[in-house]
Amino acid sequence: MYSTFRQFSRNCSNIIKNVNRLAHNEAKKADLEKRRAQMMAKGLPKLKPIPNVKDIILVSSGKGGVGKSTTAVNLAAAMKVEFPEKNVGLLDADVFGPSVPLMMNLDDTPILNDKNLMEPLVNYGVKCMSMGFLMSENAALIWRGLMVMQALERLMRQVEWGPTDYLIVDTPPGTGDTHLTLLQNLPITGAILVTTPQSASIQVTRRGGVMFEKMKIPIIGIVENMSSIKCPACRSNIQLFGNGVDDLAEEFETQILQHIPLEKEINSSSDKGVPIIIGKPNCNEAIVYKKLAQQVKEFVENKPK
Ligand SMILES: Nc1ncnc2c1ncn2[C@@H]1O[C@H](COP(=O)(O)OP(=O)(O)O)[C@@H](O)[C@H]1O
Ligand SMILES: [Mg+2]
Repeated sequence: MYSTFRQFSRNCSNIIKNVNRLAHNEAKKADLEKRRAQMMAKGLPKLKPIPNVKDIILVSSGKGGVGKSTTAVNLAAAMKVEFPEKNVGLLDADVFGPSVPLMMNLDDTPILNDKNLMEPLVNYGVKCMSMGFLMSENAALIWRGLMVMQALERLMRQVEWGPTDYLIVDTPPGTGDTHLTLLQNLPITGAILVTTPQSASIQVTRRGGVMFEKMKIPIIGIVENMSSIKCPACRSNIQLFGNGVDDLAEEFETQILQHIPLEKEINSSSDKGVPIIIGKPNCNEAIVYKKLAQQVKEFVENKPK
């Protein structure tokens, strides 16, 4: 009887010891996590606004060739057409494949002002900056990591943007160094995801969306590009691919801002350096970009303070 009691009391004391040890371990773990978070926060660059720039809008997608640059260029030009009193900037953050020089028909080299800052080049009333203005076509091909970040730093900070209401940022494909540098350095008002309706594009765009969610960047919405073509005979819209973009919008609790058709003229006008919104401001496609500009303005006006 006595030995049973001793065994019981030993077991109880072991249980208490284990519970105490567990509680101690948990407290230690929580303390470690807290210190880790503090260290990480210290290591990250602080968000620093660009002087005089009010709202920064990213145009992004996981995939290349889906129409990010076309959307960014037409959106920037449409913002200026729709709201001429506003100052609009366009930053081409695609260091490896800048598109803004071609699409905005700009090929000068920016001049340095007396503050040693570069003056953006201007066309269609939009102030533009791109790595393409600063170096020959293939010079950045073998850059990586630090060099890309230094180039971006130059494009972000060593430019005299002047008073700018909307700075539209065209980004490269993927979720790599460029995105992290932009997201960790700049206070971004919101991001637009551009995707085509095929699963391969949607899948990669989803990763872009997850990155924005993780970095707490609001997603303004999705642009479904090349979503349909017009039948040459009857001019009705033919949907080429499925409705996967609807699911993507639902997943991120956001909206499809616009469906932009696959239209020869969108491509040929970009290639000529006259965005369709400038060359044919009243055609259906231009109207879609104008609506997109309205939506972005509304988003900015209603952004959480
Ligand atoms: N809606 C569209 N209709 C026709 N061509 C388009 C459309 N959107 C983009 N393009 C063309 O597709 C190509 C890739 O577009 P781009 O904007 O450079 O893509 P990204 O910046 O995503 O790599 C370009 O030649 C562009 O003119
Ligand atoms: Mg591009």
